[in-house]
Parts: sequence; C-alpha cells; structure tokens
Amino acid sequence: MGASTAVLVIVMASYLATAEDVNVQCQRYDPLYKELMSREAKNTIPVDGKDEALNVTINLTLLKITSLNLRTGDAVLDTWVHYEWEDSRLAWDPSDYKGITVMNLPHSNIWTPDIVPYRGHTVVTDVPAVVFNSGLVYYIPPTIIKTRCDVSNYTTDGTVTCSLKIGSWTYNGNILDVQNKGPEIDVSEYYHDNQWDITEHSMQRRVHHYDCCPEPYPAITASVTLKAKRHGLLGWSLFH
Ligand SMILES: *[C@@H]1O[C@H](CO)[C@@H](O)[C@H](O)[C@H]1NC(C)=O
Ligand SMILES: *[C@@H]1O[C@H](CO)[C@@H](O)[C@H](O)[C@H]1NC(C)=O
Ligand SMILES: *[C@@H]1O[C@H](CO)[C@@H](O)[C@H](O)[C@H]1NC(C)=O
Repeated sequence: MGASTAVLVIVMASYLATAEDVNVQCQRYDPLYKELMSREAKNTIPVDGKDEALNVTINLTLLKITSLNLRTGDAVLDTWVHYEWEDSRLAWDPSDYKGITVMNLPHSNIWTPDIVPYRGHTVVTDVPAVVFNSGLVYYIPPTIIKTRCDVSNYTTDGTVTCSLKIGSWTYNGNILDVQNKGPEIDVSEYYHDNQWDITEHSMQRRVHHYDCCPEPYPAITASVTLKAKRHGLLGWSLFH
C-alpha cells in the first residue's frame, strides 16, 4: 500500500466516522426509542400496586366477509381489531424528546394483551403499536378471523349469525379486564357485496364465573347478523 493510499484510507475513515455521528444526532426517534427500550416494559402486564385490573378496550372493524359456507357455517372475516390500554412505563415528557408525542414501536418490543377468540382462530398481520406520550397504546392489527357462523335459520328467513367471543387467554378479570369501546361492531369500512345486508352488529361484554374458580372472566361477544339480499325473491336458498 503506498503512502498516499494509506492517507486516503485514513481520511475516508475519519470522514465516515464524522458522517455517522452527525447521522446519529439527526435521528429524531432514536433517543426516545433507546429510553423506552431501557425500561423493560415488555414481559409483564402493566398493572400497578393498587390492585386495579388493566383495562384493555376493544373495537372491531368488520371489513369483509371473505367466505361463508352456507352448509357448515364456516366463515372467514376480514377485520381490524383495535386494542387500547395504558402502560405508564412507556410514558415520556415530549419536551425532553424534540416535542415527540407519538411513537411507533414494534409490538414485539412492548407488552401486548393475549386476547384471542375462544373458538376459531386468527391470522394477525404484523404491524407496529402506536404509543402516545401519556402511555396510551393503540394496537390495531389487521386480522383474519376464521370462525363458524350459525346457519340454522338460513333456509327459513335468509339470515346467518356470526358470533365471536374474545377474551384474555391467561389472565382473569382481576388482572386484565376487557372492555368494549362501544355497543356496536364498526361497519363503516364494510365492503358491501351484492349478496348480504348487515342487519345487526353488536358488541357486548359479559363476565363469566366458573365453578372451579372465584375469579371473574370477562369476555366480549361480537355478533353480526347477515341477511341474504335475494332470499325469498329468487329462491336463493335453492341454488346455494
Ligand atoms: C376500567 O374501566 C371501567 C369501566 O369503564 C372503569 O370503571 C374502571 O375504573 C377502569 N379501571 C381503570 C384502572 O382505569
Ligand atoms: C333463528 O330464528 C328464531 C326464530 O325467529 C330465533 O328465535 C333465533 O334466535 C334465530 N337464531 C339465530 C342464530 O339467529
Ligand atoms: C371504533 O373504530 C372506528 C374506526 O376507527 C371508529 O369510527 C368508531 O368510532 C370506534 N367506536 C367507538 C365506540 O369509539
């Protein structure tokens, strides 16, 4: 290696180091990210010492009935499940972090609730959680729900009812409480096809007690009733 090449390498190396430092300083979200990750808010449920359950509030947006088998009731629903809760470990003062009030974090880096359907199963798209500086967390994964609907009334009145009961898989209601955001499933984004009308779409919270255990087990039942548009008029049920 000639002397001039060596000088060039050294010059380049110092140039790169400087560029990297500048880059780090300019990163808007990195200092806050480092701070939040150092708080170890990942593996345990955010309940404080006051004996109060963590509320996880749920809102369900129904986008589409992707498939529905009118013989078995097996259905695939396209949804967004909106979860929100408070994790005070993730709160910060915006004035310490360039005025940042909202931060997106990989959901695997924070605690998220283990809320699942009791029957059926889901395919959840991997999206970040949105954390506000108050510690409020929004987590809204697009979710494909496979479930079984009640088709027993289809031949008589053209209706099919799909009910989905969801709750925490491992926490009882004294630790994690599920709340519904409102009394209805959100259908504002529903893809209206020419086969079904939605005649009812409710969300209800019920608390179950089992013989085994004194603890309450709260769950949300989301229920949607579909009515075939052409049922009766064209003898729809004969052809399906
Ligand atoms: C959880 O929600 C219920 C019903 O809205 C409310 O009464 C309770 O105070 C909430 N608990 C906490 C810890 O915020
Ligand atoms: C089926 O229809 C009967 C009679 O109208 C009603 O009582 C029952 O709740 C319906 N079942 C479902 C699953 O909608
Ligand atoms: C549920 O979510 C939808 C879509 O974000 C929203 O329009 C609706 O107001 C929410 N429901 C409640 C009760 O907040």
